[in-house]
Amino acid sequence: MCGIIGYIGKEHPKEILLEGLKNLEYRGYDSSGMAFKKGKEIQIVKCVGKIAFLEEKLQNEKLIDCNIGIAHTRWATHGEPSEKNAHPHQVGKITLVHNGIIENAAPLKKELEKEGVKFQSSTDTEVMAALINKYYKKDMIGAINKAIKEVKGSYALAILNEDEDKIYAVRCQSPLIIGVEKNGYYVTSDIGAILSHTNQYVLLGENEVVELTKDGYSITKNNKPITRKVETSTLSTEDSSLHGYEHYMLKEIMEEPILVDNFIKKYINNLDALPDLKKYHDIHIVGCGSAYYAGMIGKYLFEEDGLRVDIDVASEYRYRNIIYNDKTLVILISQSGETADTIAAMRKAIEHKVDTLAIVNVDGSTIARDCTYKVLIEAGREIAVATTKAFIQQVLVLSLLSYKINKDDTYLEDLIHLPQQLKVLLDKSGYYKKLADAIYKQEDVFFIGRKVDYAISMEGSLKLKEVSYIHSDSYQAGELKHGTISLVNEGTIVFGIITDDEIKDKTISNLEEVISRGAVPIYVGIDDYGYENQILVPRVNKKLQPILVVPTLQMIAYYVAYKRGCDIDKPRNLAKSVTVE
Ligand code: G6P
Repeated sequence: MCGIIGYIGKEHPKEILLEGLKNLEYRGYDSSGMAFKKGKEIQIVKCVGKIAFLEEKLQNEKLIDCNIGIAHTRWATHGEPSEKNAHPHQVGKITLVHNGIIENAAPLKKELEKEGVKFQSSTDTEVMAALINKYYKKDMIGAINKAIKEVKGSYALAILNEDEDKIYAVRCQSPLIIGVEKNGYYVTSDIGAILSHTNQYVLLGENEVVELTKDGYSITKNNKPITRKVETSTLSTEDSSLHGYEHYMLKEIMEEPILVDNFIKKYINNLDALPDLKKYHDIHIVGCGSAYYAGMIGKYLFEEDGLRVDIDVASEYRYRNIIYNDKTLVILISQSGETADTIAAMRKAIEHKVDTLAIVNVDGSTIARDCTYKVLIEAGREIAVATTKAFIQQVLVLSLLSYKINKDDTYLEDLIHLPQQLKVLLDKSGYYKKLADAIYKQEDVFFIGRKVDYAISMEGSLKLKEVSYIHSDSYQAGELKHGTISLVNEGTIVFGIITDDEIKDKTISNLEEVISRGAVPIYVGIDDYGYENQILVPRVNKKLQPILVVPTLQMIAYYVAYKRGCDIDKPRNLAKSVTVE
């Protein structure tokens, strides 16, 4: 959460930082700020709300003429979104921006207050600035090293010191990279922030301190020099343009057919490039949010292939007493590869010396780097906070892994036609809009399904609530009558997801139960039952069916949010990459 960019070089940093923040805004957008440095002078400009407000404020400020700056966009953890809590924070000679959480900020703050520090904000970040300032005499790297020894938690920091024309940076459990270009150097939490300037970057290890000047950079850990190679990002700036769409969410849904097609072409004759799950006795699937629901689809597929599968959200898995054996594989699913809880789950598996498989979008991310195996989902850059195309690609990977375990006849034939069928479904936007008209004034919406259809329901429900703010829940179709059915009354919308032949009659009965209590059904499935509201998707191999169903629910969520005038790409309170616990 939160985004960092810093620049030191030949140019004035304002435009570079502003563009960077706009690209980072998906990570948090409740407030933002910048610091510019020339000689001893440090000018700070902060603002509550979107980056557009900061941009406006900057236009009315007389900025110092300089070539060093750091900037931040925030998703509040400690202290409400306000100008005083926005970053950068300044204590004495130190000005810094921070991603992550300092978990022992409260006791440290008490100590520092006793020593005479007067804090201006309610943030944990200001404590970090005060600590570095306390230890700084002449040696900045020494001061940073002392400060980080005292803190617990996660941090990525870009730091200015009044006395030097430099940017310092350090990270622990929160991503931060160095960008390298002929006109200057960057520090950022996400390569996307600097892609229009450079695709050359250097990864920073935990607690490595980097010192950037306008002519170069050096990295040390515990004061010993570290050499790291310069890497080249394969992402392109193209990925961040809207291509005429009003929102990234819609643009990204519309990219699904081509991404699915590209992925199929890459792997259809190259299944050996994917890991073989047959050799494991236990599969654990772990993720957060939508990644977890993609995993849930995987669980149902792998179970039908005869594997034993456990699945949990990462924030629970990391604290559970898990029994591993030497044939356990832990699959970590994550678009960003940087979700704090998923990283912790991965570390737990690594500590227990079992194999780990990363299913991630961002190459070079922590999860992509540290797992035994990785499969990149190749969804390109996803900007809308609510994931769509990355989800579909995650499911596609799981589906191919399932096919590799248990090669059934119709799969390959259906796989080839899948992108075209998906495109045809997405082209029915008029129909999704019509359904959205029926939904957008509702207070509660329910989704029901069994087995894999239940997993699909979970994702459909999450998508709807996160972008439209309509309360929505998903239930196993057979479970509804054990309580929740009391919420169903005249006009309640209930989605029935029904794609599994084995249990379709059961779910239809459950749908009829709610209809007889006044519910308005929206049926999504493969057989035509003649419901007034129904989305029919082509019948394909079971392992591929979710790839045709979920996008229709994404479209409905989009149009409902649109009708309600929501901030679709940046729903309130959310962030795309959740790098705090
Ligand atoms: C956030 C996003 C979700 C995403 C989840 C996991 O909550 O808003 O869309 O599913 O994080 O993110 P990851 O990057 O690990 O897939």
